[in-house]
Amino acid sequence: MERNQLQSFFLTLPNMTQDTEHLFDRISQFQEIMMMYSCAAREMRTKLEVLNDDFSVRYRRNPIEIIKTRIKTPGSLFQKIMKRGLEVSEHTLLNEIHDIAGVRVICSFIDDIYEVARLLVGQDDVTLLETKDYIRHPKPNGYRSLHLILQIPVFFADRKQKMTVEVQIRTLAMDFWASLDHELHYKHEEGSELQDVEEELRQCADVIARTDERMQNIRKRIYGEATWEKKQEVEDGVCDSESDGE
Ligand code: GTP
Ligand code: MG
Repeated sequence: MERNQLQSFFLTLPNMTQDTEHLFDRISQFQEIMMMYSCAAREMRTKLEVLNDDFSVRYRRNPIEIIKTRIKTPGSLFQKIMKRGLEVSEHTLLNEIHDIAGVRVICSFIDDIYEVARLLVGQDDVTLLETKDYIRHPKPNGYRSLHLILQIPVFFADRKQKMTVEVQIRTLAMDFWASLDHELHYKHEEGSELQDVEEELRQCADVIARTDERMQNIRKRIYGEATWEKKQEVEDGVCDSESDGE
């Protein structure tokens, strides 16, 4: 958001001073914090890319298909602050709101989701603040995804700061579903007469979940129960690359 847009925004906040110098200080501070979150999202992306690269060298398969990062827009950030009755302050931005930096990780298989989560949380500079497992416990509307609130240190020019990042890990199919669900809620506020669409979407979520499980089981039947090592042995024994053979 441009500085003048931010300025008009800050001026609409309750108790906001019209004192220009003070206002500019706050805008600069806000922009600095958003920059810090953007760096935190990049750090988290790097951690995930490193894991994925290591997997692809060791086991010739990537658990992660896509990584997307986003920083909360000032509009939705302030909406959340107001909704929770918090004040607009550095403390709130750094300690109370946990999803300013968001990273979405898309995997092919359900097992990959838990493997990526396990490896990430196991890193000694990563602190797990909260887990919401909407895969084992889907939301009533059918939403599935594994949410982790993680804290990682980020090194800036003159200081080290612990930054919080929300990581959502899901399969391609869960992501496909969530995008359409998001459109439904974005386009139609609650209470509108789209209950039949909601019901159909919920049924699709169940079909998708069953399909994810079946795909996972088929993979296990191809490569054996679990381990990544096992897969490598099979691959080494059978062929050198995917395109060999059939
Ligand atoms: P927020 O205040 O929205 O952050 O909710 P929360 O603090 O209870 O967190 P939760 O982990 O439940 O959800 C955080 C994020 O997950 C949301 O901002 C969405 O991106 C995503 N999410 C959660 N529920 C749904 C859902 O029903 N549908 C879709 N499409 N996304 C969801
Ligand atoms: Mg959120």
